[in-house]
Amino acid sequence: MERLRFFLNDKPVEETGLSPTTTLLRYLRDRVHLTGTKEGCAEGDCGACTVAVLEHDSQGAPALRAVNSCLVLLPMVQGKRVYTVEALKEGGKYHVVQEMLARELGSQCGYCTPGIAMAMLEACHRRDMDEPWKLDAQMCGNLCRCTGYRPIREAANQVAGLRPQDRFARALAEARPEPMALAYEAGAQRFFTPGSMDALWDVLDKHPDARFVMGGTDLSLEVTKRYAEPPLLVSLEALPELHVLEPRGGGHRLGATVWLTDLEDYARVACPPLERMLRYFGSRQIKNRATVGGNLCTASPIGDMAPVLLSLGAEAVLRSRAGERRVPLEDFFQGYRRTALGRGEVLAYVDVPAQPEGARALAYKVSKRRELDISAVSAGFRVVVDGEGKVTEARLAYGGMAATPARARRTEAALVGQPWTEATVEAALARLDEDFKPLSDHRGSAWYRAQVAKNLLRGFFHETLSTPVPRLAEGHSATVQVR
Ligand SMILES: Cc1cc2nc3c(=O)[nH]c(=O)nc-3n(C[C@H](O)[C@H](O)[C@H](O)COP(=O)(O)OP(=O)(O)OC[C@H]3O[C@@H](n4cnc5c(N)ncnc54)[C@H](O)[C@@H]3O)c2cc1C
Ligand code: FES
Ligand code: FES
Repeated sequence: MERLRFFLNDKPVEETGLSPTTTLLRYLRDRVHLTGTKEGCAEGDCGACTVAVLEHDSQGAPALRAVNSCLVLLPMVQGKRVYTVEALKEGGKYHVVQEMLARELGSQCGYCTPGIAMAMLEACHRRDMDEPWKLDAQMCGNLCRCTGYRPIREAANQVAGLRPQDRFARALAEARPEPMALAYEAGAQRFFTPGSMDALWDVLDKHPDARFVMGGTDLSLEVTKRYAEPPLLVSLEALPELHVLEPRGGGHRLGATVWLTDLEDYARVACPPLERMLRYFGSRQIKNRATVGGNLCTASPIGDMAPVLLSLGAEAVLRSRAGERRVPLEDFFQGYRRTALGRGEVLAYVDVPAQPEGARALAYKVSKRRELDISAVSAGFRVVVDGEGKVTEARLAYGGMAATPARARRTEAALVGQPWTEATVEAALARLDEDFKPLSDHRGSAWYRAQVAKNLLRGFFHETLSTPVPRLAEGHSATVQVR
């Protein structure tokens, strides 16, 4: 069996005998005593554990990405370069992110500060920090209990896009993707990262009950919160076939292992409804690891990608050794946290078709907090209106309203064939109570959910009256200046 190999603050590391579900955070603190990296929540919510990993994005370009080390399992950094807060000071000199945090008085007790500095480091080396909202999106995964966010945001604003000639710039310039393929075993646990589809099928032939993992932003919580020790995990991260993100037949092919950060960048131009949903999905650290496939395969009723993809008419493409099969996304969700995936099958791609002429499409997420929160209700809508103003097709998909993300079939039927007017929408909304009987929980009562679901459709009607596929207004959080 092979060893774990990666670079930590530019030094090569080799490890063996460690459980493959050891999180990077526990490794840093307990094994190598790099205790600058802190633990707050151990579930991706506070950002205290943020470190930077040198990754290659979906276009193959090297990028320094902030990630939550509490959710990264050690084999997930095989072949990669990991940087902790200890790497910032170089030759006795503080890094510009540290200097700015100090100068702007962005730290008090200091517990959050290492994580904030590492999130700022990503901002510092990004080439696309050209709009103010991007700074908010970059920093929304880091909580601070004492300083107050104004000085922290000011410090982040000072460094965003600066790209100094530091050790990280040198690493980015020299970075070559290292092989990630791995077959690792420690005690009763195993972790495989096949490097080709054939290698994947070989692993699955031997271990048909293996569990897949990608970003781990969902699965790792079982380890950190329920102390689970999965006996066999198979990572799909080293399979280039699944990492595609490209236009296709007038629509788009979204590889199951594409990170949501890359998808958000792509969707900005290519698919505004997807971009709108991704803007308020998790945090930068979460989106740097979370994937399309992971989001759909959890089959969570409140997974945010499903409603928007359902409304756009997406199909899931499943692959196994036997070949490929296509499943409309509505049939992919078979029950509460159950999918159509069979044994030995992976979700390979999601194909979004070309949108018909006359389509109006948008997505909505309603949560108690705007950033980094779980949806109470989410929705994706697409209505096709013909030249005479009549609805020829309606796809209204909701999350948070039933055991799975689902379409509102009766409401859709009430729209089709009718003129696209406020009166039609109001009449159709009566059917929404027949489509869904939502539950009450701490995110919202059944009454609240039913009311919000109706209001979202009303909002969609008004928002798409003059622009069929509107983008999110950029000015909503322009409280800081980004150079
Ligand atoms: C702090 C925090 C915030 C979050 N915010 C949001 C949010 O705003 N909206 C939201 O919807 N979710 C959110 N999530 C949940 C999670 O980040 C997403 O569901 C994410 O997309 C999961 O992707 P992943 O690659 O990390 O999945 P993983 O954790 O790696 O896997 C999840 C599941 O999918 C299976 N799987 C993964 N890929 C495949 C595949 N290709 N084929 C077959 N099975 C597969 C795995 O076996 C596992 O059961 C959040 C999570 C955290 C911790
Ligand atoms: S410890 Fe809170 S995000 Fe990792
Ligand atoms: S400085 Fe105390 S938590 Fe941020």
